[in-house]
Amino acid sequence: MRFVQAPCRQEKLATSGIQGRVMLMDGMTPPAEYLGKVQCVYIDPPFNTGEDFEFRMRVGEEGWTDGNRSLTLPAFSDRFESREEYWALLRGLVRAARSLLTESGAFFLHLDSREAPYARMICDEVFGESNFVNEIIWAYQTGGRTLKRFSRKHDTILFYQKSKKLYFNIQAVPVSRAENRSNHMKKQVDEQGRAYRTIKSGGKTYTYYDDAPVYPGDVWTDVSHLQQKDPQRTGYDTQKPVALLKRILACTTRPGDLVADLCCGSGTTLAAAMELDRQFLGLDVSRNAVSVSRKRLTDSALTVDWSFGAPGAELDAEMMPGIGFYDVKLLRYALPHQDTMGIENLDLVDQWAVGFLKDGVFYAQDLSSRLKKLPKLNTTLLLPQLRGTPAIMTVDVFGNSAVWVEAE
Ligand SMILES: C[S@@+](CC[C@H](N)C(=O)[O-])C[C@H]1O[C@@H](n2cnc3c(N)ncnc32)[C@H](O)[C@@H]1O
Repeated sequence: MRFVQAPCRQEKLATSGIQGRVMLMDGMTPPAEYLGKVQCVYIDPPFNTGEDFEFRMRVGEEGWTDGNRSLTLPAFSDRFESREEYWALLRGLVRAARSLLTESGAFFLHLDSREAPYARMICDEVFGESNFVNEIIWAYQTGGRTLKRFSRKHDTILFYQKSKKLYFNIQAVPVSRAENRSNHMKKQVDEQGRAYRTIKSGGKTYTYYDDAPVYPGDVWTDVSHLQQKDPQRTGYDTQKPVALLKRILACTTRPGDLVADLCCGSGTTLAAAMELDRQFLGLDVSRNAVSVSRKRLTDSALTVDWSFGAPGAELDAEMMPGIGFYDVKLLRYALPHQDTMGIENLDLVDQWAVGFLKDGVFYAQDLSSRLKKLPKLNTTLLLPQLRGTPAIMTVDVFGNSAVWVEAE
């Protein structure tokens, strides 16, 4: 059967699970319906490095099995005409963040040592100096080193509160007591068998139990950056580790709260929110960011707002009616020859779903994506025979998404 593309503005991937939304949208202008509703906003914007960042898209079963077949696509450009242009972006994002927050909400702006001092002035201007909470130093060991100066091995995360009503629960983020914090103290064991250490200072004896929780300060050395072969890696440059975001979200939000990332990239904040049972909202201006985030978040009740349309694409599929279900089999996907870079047929498909199209919204019922743990696309999906126009949604390796209905 031949399918044709149909107009669509939004897709809904499931009805159960944590509610989440990803939107292809400028983070400076978030939707008005979220104003004053977000408990924590985290932003990891471009750092003004003057570089173009890439997204390495694995292609076909082969690419997802051994990583030997991939495409290099643009992720985002971090080039600005002037400092002023860059600061206008930061100011716009910081203002948007503040407008989204609840009165007890928290804001985190992630930068490096080059722009962080200027960003702090912008945040002081927007949030008020008295609402500055912390400058977090996230130190790591990854990346190259130089002999010309001290290697730059930290990022700076500015933490602001919307107001004095800040919700902050450090007890949600205990860290293990590092051996080197206690090895100069004398180790003893009490009657219950608990190990503790004591130290005398100023005539007083201080006792620390080895199993008692300790809490992080503002210098974080215990969260490692993603290693080259880290299974979390999506191929999207600048991706941050989930553990970093989990620490930020766990102490500033409760289960069920709404978290937003206005430059969501590969969706790390959203993935951390999903794991912690927080609702999430992610905005980004890069199609590849939306495509990567979508794939990462299919275990949630996800809504995705992006433009649909794959110019010149063709799709053949079979829809076999069974008892209560259609068996939908993906047969052929094609793009205009000059655009395919030698990639053919179903190797061009990275994600697909079957569902219903109603009033411009695609409601997915079953889906399949290529993943490291599932390199082979499942080419037959089940579609319950419900009311609505049966439809297919595809995302190809170039990030084109399209919704298809049977040709008349
Ligand atoms: C440093 S990356 C974010 C990486 C992300 N934290 C992750 O873990 O994958 C910055 C992101 O900001 C996005 N971006 C740049 N300008 C934007 C804007 N005005 N609104 C929304 N997103 C924007 C880029 O497309 C890019 O994905």
